[in-house]
Amino acid sequence: MAPESRSTDRYGRWQLPVLGFTEYWYPAIKSSEVKGKPIRIQMLGEWIVIWRDQGRVGALVDRCAHRGARLSQGRCQFPGTLTISCPYHGWTFDETGQCRAAIVEGPGSPLPPKVRIRAFPVAERYGVVWVWMGEGSPIPIDDELPKPFKVKDACVELYVTPPWQVNWRIACDNFIDDLHARYLHRGTPKFIFKRVRAWGTVSAHVASDKRGVIVKVDEDQAALLSDREQATYPGLGKFPRFKWWRFQKKKKQMNQVVAGERVTEGGNGTYLPSVAVIPQFSPLTTFVQWAVPIDEASIRNFCFLIAPRKGIRRVLFRLHHALYFQWTQDRLFIGQDKKMTSGQSEGPERLSASDIPVIVWRRFALENHRRPPGQEQLFVRPPAAGEDPEPAEALT
Ligand code: FES
Ligand SMILES: [Fe+2]
Repeated sequence: MAPESRSTDRYGRWQLPVLGFTEYWYPAIKSSEVKGKPIRIQMLGEWIVIWRDQGRVGALVDRCAHRGARLSQGRCQFPGTLTISCPYHGWTFDETGQCRAAIVEGPGSPLPPKVRIRAFPVAERYGVVWVWMGEGSPIPIDDELPKPFKVKDACVELYVTPPWQVNWRIACDNFIDDLHARYLHRGTPKFIFKRVRAWGTVSAHVASDKRGVIVKVDEDQAALLSDREQATYPGLGKFPRFKWWRFQKKKKQMNQVVAGERVTEGGNGTYLPSVAVIPQFSPLTTFVQWAVPIDEASIRNFCFLIAPRKGIRRVLFRLHHALYFQWTQDRLFIGQDKKMTSGQSEGPERLSASDIPVIVWRRFALENHRRPPGQEQLFVRPPAAGEDPEPAEALT
């Protein structure tokens, strides 16, 4: 058998596009990094040039319509016009993608009105340049960002990871896969002194705003932590073997409400297009991890820590993020996720009861993601009962 015929694209049967869902806003780069020099960046497989001119920002496909040179090697030749000129022959494009001049052909050239390249709508919020990756008209970005950003007096702190060699779909499965945290991350500062489960049960449901999936762990009231923080596995022994240093009680995650709507619904959420929303243990404090596809095999994560803070509390929050959270969570904690997800190889899966949230997420994403105009038929339906991705008995 040829090696390639053994490989199974585990997401192919779910019809989840390898480069991500296009009709969404994505965080592209920190605003502070877009200065005079144009930036070349890859997102969802597209090479994009982002540049700033007198405060405003533009984004175009990084390929000149003339003979394909990189616009990102050019510059804004006409300050104040938000145009970028190709370094080769000076074809000049505005932020809508319209060619406005072909410099070496002179100001009378009839060419410019006939040439247009792909432009990406941009917005700046919370110190980030956001790019609309869709072919359809952009949804207003303020309607689109997850609810934690809308908390009054939101203080938004950000760490952007270097690229991870992992496909975005694997990252999203990891977001919704709550039970791994109790095992994989039990030695991190977040959990090291906490009483954590050795095992549990999970369920998942669609969020009330229909934009994502919420996972619930041990919802049944009989599931006392004390019964589940240590267990004897037949013929093997106890796990964990010791737990005497775990004295901190697990605090209940907050039901966080903004303008009458819950921000996080009391559980970890995974939202379209590829966003984890994780409530923290203080009121209205949320960790948002946004996996942005670079290409088929890599992502970068925009890791936001968000809380309502004013005055001196805002300063302290920033210090907490810079000196503690950014290291313990954004590097150490999710660094373990990086190791697990980038180490996964192609091949068949054997899903189990603990994967129910993963299945609910994949099905939700397939059924509910926004489609490019005219391509609705490409993503028609989730696998039907008879062609379920895993037979029902595999889930018992
Ligand atoms: S390739 Fe860009 S102007 Fe010629
Ligand atoms: Fe994790």
